[in-house]
Amino acid sequence: MKRATLSLTITLALAGAALAHGGVSDPVVKARMALMTEIKDATAVIGGMAKGKLEFNPDQAAAAKAVLNKSAVQITDAFETPATDPKSEALPVIWENWDDFSTKANALAQAASGIDTGTLEGVQAGLQALGASCGGCHKLYRMD
Ligand code: HEC
Repeated sequence: MKRATLSLTITLALAGAALAHGGVSDPVVKARMALMTEIKDATAVIGGMAKGKLEFNPDQAAAAKAVLNKSAVQITDAFETPATDPKSEALPVIWENWDDFSTKANALAQAASGIDTGTLEGVQAGLQALGASCGGCHKLYRMD
């Protein structure tokens, strides 16, 4: 019984995640959302360890950092085309302030590169910088 409830919960959670992108038909918008989701998942590993919700593991932290490094440099390509979709949360000012948007993407790349994944303290300090870079961009360029 317990197991059935748990698996139902997981199924619902996954369905919710799929639904969030389900109505998006524009492939460019879909791809940039997928990139952000990848960034979110890697950030969740760093954040989980920093906050003690996940056991600190330098290899897993390094793997998450590698994903962040790779994804951060893909942001400008992913957003270069001003594609829209009713479900998109991207604000049009992105393409009016493209240089600043690129600077903010670069700030994420810098924050990710700067994470010292060898120690828990390093991961905790890294999360601060990482979080600031997400917020710095979302505040201006993503809908609330
Ligand atoms: C350079 C700007 C920028 C940076 C840096 C950035 N984001 Fe985003 N993010 C956006 C924009 C713009 C959107 C909205 C995209 C859309 O809906 O078309 C977005 C959307 C998202 C979404 C929603 C994706 C979806 O499925 O709709 C998540 C989750 C997300 N970002 C997480 C993060 C995290 C975590 C970080 C930091 C580690 C981060 N982002 C850094 C600009 C940025």
